[in-house]
Amino acid sequence: MRDFENDHGMMIFGGMKAAEIADRFGTPVYVTDEQILRGNYRRIHQAFNKYMPTEIHYACKANTNLAILSILNQEGTHIDAVSIGEVLTSMKAGIPPERIMYTGVNVSDAELKALVETGCRINVDSESELERLAKITTDIPLSFRITPGVASGHSAKVMTGGKGAKFGVPFSRAVDTYARAKDLGFEVKGIHAHTGSGGLSTEPFTDVVEVLCGLVNDIESETGIQLEFLDFGGGIGVPYKMQEEEIDMDEVAMEVTEIVKDETKIKTLALEPGRYIVCDSTILLTRCVDVKDAGPKKYVGVDAGFNTLIRPAFYDSYHYVAIANKFNKACTAKYDVVGPICETGDYLAHDRVLPDPEEGDVIAIYNAGAYGFTMSSNYNSRPLCAEVLVNEGEAELIREPETIEELWRHQIIPERLRR
Ligand code: LLP
Repeated sequence: MRDFENDHGMMIFGGMKAAEIADRFGTPVYVTDEQILRGNYRRIHQAFNKYMPTEIHYACKANTNLAILSILNQEGTHIDAVSIGEVLTSMKAGIPPERIMYTGVNVSDAELKALVETGCRINVDSESELERLAKITTDIPLSFRITPGVASGHSAKVMTGGKGAKFGVPFSRAVDTYARAKDLGFEVKGIHAHTGSGGLSTEPFTDVVEVLCGLVNDIESETGIQLEFLDFGGGIGVPYKMQEEEIDMDEVAMEVTEIVKDETKIKTLALEPGRYIVCDSTILLTRCVDVKDAGPKKYVGVDAGFNTLIRPAFYDSYHYVAIANKFNKACTAKYDVVGPICETGDYLAHDRVLPDPEEGDVIAIYNAGAYGFTMSSNYNSRPLCAEVLVNEGEAELIREPETIEELWRHQIIPERLRR
């Protein structure tokens, strides 16, 4: 897990004192280090492209901030999008539609029509979607998401590739579906599968690539379709705990590309990392507002709850916690870090040893860049928080904090209720 510099007890993030960023922009606030973000993209891009041409489709569901997308656009990223909203947001950040691949599930006709208008690539999830798309157009290149029968992930909630999953064309229907697409007049270019999200083992990647390579050859021999690209999805986990090891990207790249080159005539590989690119680029800063000794438990009460970061409450996910203005000070006791939401399930961390927390301290929650802000909500009528970008000692606001008035902007009180 990535840790940060300590300057006389102050945590340094992106060349700045984290506590000063909190003072300047208020809390809670998500803070992203541009250099880490660019470094993550380059590391994964280089690892694969060393062996064969590989497109990195950043899974923007992890973080759709326009400034972050603009940075990744400068790096040359492709995009994995899951909704028309993500497609248009990526285009707004300057990413051309040819570099955006849409992979949806249970896609409506209205969404299909809107997607076709954008000119993005469509990765079809089902036979029903194929037939409905054919009624709109057959004049676009296609690929299919296949259910590979390989599942991975940090929680059952995010495993997507197992047999019987709601995602993808069932494996047993794959060859017939490619044949049907050809009959309908589509040019079918690729094959895709995604096993799940956030596991730290490399096996699912080689397993799913083996499955897809077998299918590529079956499709060619039974339908005559020669596929050009193979996309093995996202899901590369990152360590959230100090003692966890990170996945060796070079090893994954070498193994995966070797299988593809040995077994198929595929020219281009694609993968869809979300977490790997943004997770450790961002910390969430939240201020301690209350310290409570409740007998068997001690609490650090902070101003971010599961409205701001839902992963601990929703998946029981672990996020490392430090006090940014008492960085590397001796720890005194165990605390739960809890937020302002009126539910017992509202917590950011359980049983953490921390250095004598006090009101006003700035708490840093690590690895908050993936599925942090994008999963935040207005629950308890709390406005969404700000986002800040830091780059070599300079900080810029990249999202203004929402106001309470903005929570009402789409609501209507019927005239008869105003009397
Ligand atoms: N491709 C597809 C088709 C996906 O469904 C996903 C994630 C990805 C790529 C990117 O996966 P990644 O590389 O980020 O693991 N909210 C959960 C994670 C949900 C992931 C959903 N799909 C979390 O906070 O852990």
